Amino acid sequence: MLLKRFGVSLEENLLKALDNFVKKNQFPNRSQAIRFLIKKNLVEEKWEENEDVAGAIVIVYDHHKREVQNKSTDIQHNYHNIIISVQHVHLDHHNCLESILVKGKAAELKALSEKLISIKGIHHGKLVMTTKD
Ligand code: NI
Repeated sequence: MLLKRFGVSLEENLLKALDNFVKKNQFPNRSQAIRFLIKKNLVEEKWEENEDVAGAIVIVYDHHKREVQNKSTDIQHNYHNIIISVQHVHLDHHNCLESILVKGKAAELKALSEKLISIKGIHHGKLVMTTKD
């Protein structure tokens, strides 16, 4: 894609904050950091407008607590229309990690992820949403 240049005027403290952000995230330059921030904002807008997005829900739980797995499976079946695939990894003797790839309306992805993450016994859970634009 053709790159266009434009000038940006910023207060000194904002420029300093931008440079810290560049350094902290190891962006090669300010342009890359600004690009990242704009895209992040556009994706978040799509979530708010409930547009079509894709994402992954990652959960970690102890499979010895059988009710966690049962509940998770029940919930996932209720949302089968937005689930593309599920990958299950046996992390160690106790812990399982599941990566659930999802595609659909942002609100549905959020609802599914909130239901899974709030199951009693889930150690950790996170939803990552993105868009192809
Ligand atoms: Ni497992």
